[in-house]
Amino acid sequence: MGSGKGSNFRALAEAHSLGTLGCEPVIVLSDVENAGILDLAKSFGIPGHFVSPGPFRTKMSPEAEAELVRLLRKADVDFLVLAGFMRVIKEPLLQAFPGRILNIHPSLLPDFRGLEAWRQALDASVPEAGCTVHLVDAGVDTGEILGQRRVPVLPDDTAESLHERIQMAEHELYPQMVREFAEHLQQR
Ligand code: GRF
Repeated sequence: MGSGKGSNFRALAEAHSLGTLGCEPVIVLSDVENAGILDLAKSFGIPGHFVSPGPFRTKMSPEAEAELVRLLRKADVDFLVLAGFMRVIKEPLLQAFPGRILNIHPSLLPDFRGLEAWRQALDASVPEAGCTVHLVDAGVDTGEILGQRRVPVLPDDTAESLHERIQMAEHELYPQMVREFAEHLQQR
């Protein structure tokens, strides 16, 4: 599920095309009707659906989240991968996929939770930034950490250049973490 341009989804779909993802992306859901991730899904031949989020800004309405669960169950998904999904996940989804929702966050968690984490890193003048793949729980960017990749913060970095470097690291880390998670589920 994603709300944005879908570059992480592209990395996952390309890994699947190369046979290195260890699982099959079967459905893409978005809370944003014209999100790039839905166009990308189409170009990879994967069904994509917009689900209207309802009146809240930071979460789906309970009805909308129930609709997400319905679509995911209908598609028979085993686990859910968030790739730039900008709303907090609530009980219906957490209960439907306990311990089976992954997210990628553009910081070395637990540092810099929340929005524009790369900008937070730059403002804090840290020497290193990076990205984290973690399980999703009821908090914001708080679930169990599965893996991280570090990148340097360079003296002349802008928020944009640092974000770009972190995204390149994300595109390597996420397919690898998804493959490991899929293998772990198959062994259970
Ligand atoms: C990524 O930077 C990810 O860390 C964050 O949202 C962004 C999504 O980017 N959760 P994209 O839509 O995958 O390009």
